[in-house]
Amino acid sequence: ASVLVLHGPNLNLLGSREPEVYGQTTLAEIDAMLEGTARAAGHSLETLQSNAEHVLVDRIQAARNDGTAVILFNPAAFTHTSVALRDALAAVALPFFEIHLSNPHRREPFRQTSYFSDLAVGVVCGFGADSYRYALDAALVRLRAG
Ligand code: DQA
Repeated sequence: ASVLVLHGPNLNLLGSREPEVYGQTTLAEIDAMLEGTARAAGHSLETLQSNAEHVLVDRIQAARNDGTAVILFNPAAFTHTSVALRDALAAVALPFFEIHLSNPHRREPFRQTSYFSDLAVGVVCGFGADSYRYALDAALVRLRAG
């Protein structure tokens, strides 16, 4: 099966962006770790980062017919703003996991609302780059269960 990993705005800057909040690991390192783990489990994995809401909406829409079985999504700032991305995920009706490096619940009040959490299979937040690792592990368990 195929896993689609989506990263929202400013995550291209991981490694140098507020490292005390988001850690030192780069997005390329995270993507490589995820690809290796998925491949070892016999699955394919595609990653996409975009700063543009419509690019992410278009990719989610395409996932309806391209063999994607599960989506891992860090919507970044769009977590707290994007009805459009929420609607796209509701439209394709694919299972998805919401991921955050930081724990938004211990940060500013505006980060404590998510447009995604009530639709997600699960939410993994607060473990830095390992949030992605744990979410992929959960997704692979789900794929194995069928
Ligand atoms: C984030 C948390 C968001 O509040 C923030 O806007 C981000 C990253 C995280 O991974 O911790 O850009 O999604």
